[in-house]
Amino acid sequence: MAKYKTLDDFDVKNKVVLVRVDFNSEIDPETKNVTSDVRIKAHAESTLKELAEKGAKTVVLAHQGRKGDPDYTSLKQHAEILQKILKCPVKYVDDLFGEKAKAAIKDLKSGEILVLENVRSWDKETKSMTPEEASKTELIQNLAPLADLFVNDAFAAAHRGHVSMVGFTAVLPSAAGRIMERELKSLSKALEKPEKPSVYVMGGAKADDSLEISKYVLGNGIADYVLTGGVTGQLFLAAKGSDLGKGNMSFLAKKELTGLIPGIKALIDQFGEKVVVPIDFALEVNGKRTEISINKLPTENSIMDIGSKTVEKYSRIIATAKSIVVSGPMGVYENKEFNQGTKGVFEAIANSKAFSLAGGGNTIAAIQEYGLTKKISYISTAGGALIEFLMGKKLPGVVALENAVTTKKI
Ligand code: 3PG
Repeated sequence: MAKYKTLDDFDVKNKVVLVRVDFNSEIDPETKNVTSDVRIKAHAESTLKELAEKGAKTVVLAHQGRKGDPDYTSLKQHAEILQKILKCPVKYVDDLFGEKAKAAIKDLKSGEILVLENVRSWDKETKSMTPEEASKTELIQNLAPLADLFVNDAFAAAHRGHVSMVGFTAVLPSAAGRIMERELKSLSKALEKPEKPSVYVMGGAKADDSLEISKYVLGNGIADYVLTGGVTGQLFLAAKGSDLGKGNMSFLAKKELTGLIPGIKALIDQFGEKVVVPIDFALEVNGKRTEISINKLPTENSIMDIGSKTVEKYSRIIATAKSIVVSGPMGVYENKEFNQGTKGVFEAIANSKAFSLAGGGNTIAAIQEYGLTKKISYISTAGGALIEFLMGKKLPGVVALENAVTTKKI
């Protein structure tokens, strides 16, 4: 069982509760508008709603993008979205730990929610530190004395040992929020004692991540099969010795993925048939979909999707599974000509009776587009944190919660 405390362990009525959430959302680079409120909604409808209903004075800390990136914005808009979702007033202050922020915190009444400015407006936030080091910074030194409890609900940022993710746990009693709790419970279910057979479906273009996850889950007997698709599937097939054709091979080289081939070969040598690669592909020929068996490779046309024989093969394996983890699409699903592979495999997952877990921006977008959201057992709000969790890594944000102090130290 988890070693961290939860909201069940504290009486929050009239208490100032600092809540770190992950509101980091997709932003339209032109208008700077938030285009997906999935994460804001998740925190709003669970932890933040509960704290408000229990009469806490809630102070929300979050980040959006990184300075210099197109998705870096203030959190004013996030506060407005939160207000719409919760249907109650949400305050916002364009200050993080200065006099304005402190005055707004002291002004809070029971049940009220205040959103502070983007934590990344303060440059030190993104430095990775130990909780003790972080606790000595201005952010923690200024905010912690005003608070009674720290709640970390930002599972999606838990792979970052950033100041606001770890520092408060060294000086304030701390608890996991409901999203943090839900993510950790669901992900542990997929990773610790998955019901067998357990199938991992690894697609998308982040073949380095897929390789690390495959090594971990096959090496530790967590997965019985890894099914590969997308760019990952192409690279795994190339590692088995297939020549995909000049254009496709140089695409993989340009993405600096061919260096992974020796590691993939070693994985395939060790786990053989458990590592499953595509048996056909969909190519782009004059803008149209044309399928080709891998026996007919190499090709001068671009590989855009897995083929229908691969979908059938993967669907048969998925039908036998008792637990499934899926991350990454099977092809260029944004283009209607080439979404059949992703749609077919994701439908097979949705139709299976297995416990199914999905995560990652593209995966979630595709699941939503095909109307499969309700048929997936658990959809994670996380991207990078989920990947690191599936690689078996300890997440600094979670470790800090587990080692949190029990009494106020500031
Ligand atoms: C994410 O979206 O994965 C988290 O919010 C972390 O964001 P970062 O990659 O900018 O640290």
